[in-house]
Amino acid sequence: MSAFKAVKLTEKVYWVGAVDWAIRDFHGYSTSRGTTYNAFLVLAEKVTLIDTVKKPFFGEMMSRIASIIDPGEIDYIISNHSEMDHTGALPDTISSVHPEKVFASPMGKKAIAAHFHWDPSVITEVRTGDSISLGNISMTFIETRMLHWPDSMVSYIPEEKVLFSQDGFGMHLASSERFDDELPLHILDEESLKYYANILMPFSPLVSRLIDQLGDLDLDVDLLCPDHGPVWRSNIDHIIGNWTEWAKQKPSMKAVIVFDTMWHSTATLAEAICDGLDSQGISVRVMPLASSGRSDVATEVLDAGALIVGSPTINNQIFPRVADCMVYLKGLKPKNLVGAAFGSYGWSGEAVEQLESLLGEMNIPLASEGLKINYVPDAEALEKARDFGILIGKKVVELTGESG
Ligand code: FEO
Repeated sequence: MSAFKAVKLTEKVYWVGAVDWAIRDFHGYSTSRGTTYNAFLVLAEKVTLIDTVKKPFFGEMMSRIASIIDPGEIDYIISNHSEMDHTGALPDTISSVHPEKVFASPMGKKAIAAHFHWDPSVITEVRTGDSISLGNISMTFIETRMLHWPDSMVSYIPEEKVLFSQDGFGMHLASSERFDDELPLHILDEESLKYYANILMPFSPLVSRLIDQLGDLDLDVDLLCPDHGPVWRSNIDHIIGNWTEWAKQKPSMKAVIVFDTMWHSTATLAEAICDGLDSQGISVRVMPLASSGRSDVATEVLDAGALIVGSPTINNQIFPRVADCMVYLKGLKPKNLVGAAFGSYGWSGEAVEQLESLLGEMNIPLASEGLKINYVPDAEALEKARDFGILIGKKVVELTGESG
């Protein structure tokens, strides 16, 4: 008797993953709705498990598998992505089921061997265009290097019209529902956008190329099965269309003001800058870092026309939360937006120049000179901050070719 049940997706394909209701920090990404680690079991003549789960969820996955077959009947394991949320349970799974073969991309083979200190010969390499027989059906592989790891690949069963896309088209969302059409689309849009911004943004050119490549292959896909979140069956074109748009990193009439504050002076400047931007028809996200997580900031930055960063100066430096957020954003390589820096200071006020320098390292052109205000902003300083917002707003209008 299994505590957990497999979920039937097609005649031959079952979901046998795990739901992580509790996780709220996924290596720095705030997963406010938890996540799932999706593993899939294909009941072909060669019984095949696609991906595993994070190590602590090994028992849950095995219980779901055991609800439909004896796990010892698994012949093949395919590892589409070697990150630990999908391979953490691989060693225990192999020890438990003794599969005939484990397949991964050439880079996956290296990564798995390095993770677990294995002889790489444990893994059988498959490359783009390779196809293996599962007896009565087949499985084809397409490497998707750097989407989002060097090892990443997707696998496809033409006879079932199922594409297993590892992290691709996924989202962090714990749910008891397994299919996209069982959940509100606005929640799927919100979480998949956040996932794209925080995981895929730096690889956007590769995403565009992959989507073109998949289009050229003209795969018939009835089910799109990512390794996180629901399986897509009713909104496949919708999610692929979203990814196509997000990969363009197209700026919109939106500005993100992200800042931290010490005695509320930098916060007051942020509010006045917001007012100036608003007067130009710009939609503004004011994100104080005391209450906004870095991954929520990244989500808003993806399609923003401006990133405006504020920090007081503490011991000649940027405030810690601002530095944290900027280092995180730098890695995500936001594009096609303008930047600006501001802040209140007491003695030396280096933070604004330091932020401008960081924006330069991110290849974000400055829309204006930085705004530095000594101590508490008076009415004149607030007028300057408003004008600063107006100037940046005009640059966003130019950038987007839209009018406010
Ligand atoms: Fe879900 Fe890149 O691991």
